[in-house]
Amino acid sequence: MERHREVVLLLGAPGAGKGTQARFISDVLGVPHVASGDLLREHRRLGTELGRAAQAYMDRGDLVPDELVIAMVMERLDRPDAERGALLDGFPRTRPQAEALRAQLAERGGAVQAVLYLAVPEPVLIERLAGRWMCGHCQATYHEQFKPPRQPGVCDLCQAALSQRPDDRREVVANRVEVYLRDTQPLIDYYAAQGVLHRVDGHDTIERVRAALCAALGGVVHGLRRDRWHLYLRHPRAVRGNGHEAWLGRTLCGKYVDRDGNRVRGTLTEFWAASCRDCLRAVQGSPVDREAAPKAPHSSGEALGSSA
Ligand code: AP5
Ligand code: MG
Ligand code: ZN
Repeated sequence: MERHREVVLLLGAPGAGKGTQARFISDVLGVPHVASGDLLREHRRLGTELGRAAQAYMDRGDLVPDELVIAMVMERLDRPDAERGALLDGFPRTRPQAEALRAQLAERGGAVQAVLYLAVPEPVLIERLAGRWMCGHCQATYHEQFKPPRQPGVCDLCQAALSQRPDDRREVVANRVEVYLRDTQPLIDYYAAQGVLHRVDGHDTIERVRAALCAALGGVVHGLRRDRWHLYLRHPRAVRGNGHEAWLGRTLCGKYVDRDGNRVRGTLTEFWAASCRDCLRAVQGSPVDREAAPKAPHSSGEALGSSA
């Protein structure tokens, strides 16, 4: 069995929108969302030794020491649900963390497939973090202005109470951004040199960023029957050139994009001008069916040309 074949990273400054975009991306990829910050906050909540060790660093906005974070994330990646891969959010954050991830994946015949770098100007980060509210139960994030919950103070998804993160205080945010620039930003060049970096403009509405992330993981393709554009995600095995794969990926509306047919590729501008209704609904945040993640090519789905 091919392990860890779909490891995708979300890289970006504090407040860039990693957590906001993660649920959707992990759903469409069919892999778990692994966020080092969420794991650390869970350790703190449970009062574990790691949680107590991490506390002071997190409250100052400093990084928790590499060895602690590396051990925590590697243990998470070895659980059965991450066998096919994972969407990593907030890890790696330093060069040693990146090297440790590379070594562990290589041991299992895997590698980082794609790094999605969310680029957002600094003043916007501060504004986003100051207005952020989080669900302590399911980790969903909201914003007073940009993404208010339906009922103030209550999570739309699980009805738990929302709270603000203690490290979102202005002085702590300033330090988090500084630490990001010093320790994490160099990873952009590190992954660019490996040819896996995708820079996505994160200073846009949540749904437009979502579409741009999909386009980075696949692209925009024209349907054959109607004059509509679809967003598709590349299938990892097809990218690797596995001989049996006759198809390239799958659209958000659930159709196959084959390698030889449907060749008309488009841009995000074309997608927004004339989008497939179901692909559009998917990026607008209607729940995405986990089963819609790519399956074997000969299972029941339709090819894009047949009805799109
Ligand atoms: P972590 O939890 O990872 O925090 P972070 O990296 O600072 O990032 P954030 O979670 O603050 O930002 P985000 O990009 O997820 O933004 P979000 O989507 O919520 O780490 C916390 C701490 O843990 C660290 O400081 C460190 O101490 C420790 N730690 C974690 N990982 C570590 C590691 N690997 N090594 C060492 N230490 C580690 O969005 C923010 C707000 O903006 C929300 O309100 C949202 O609604 C809004 N928003 C999002 N997108 C948009 C948009 N497009 N338009 C308008 N508003 C938007
Ligand atoms: Mg986050
Ligand atoms: Zn919730």
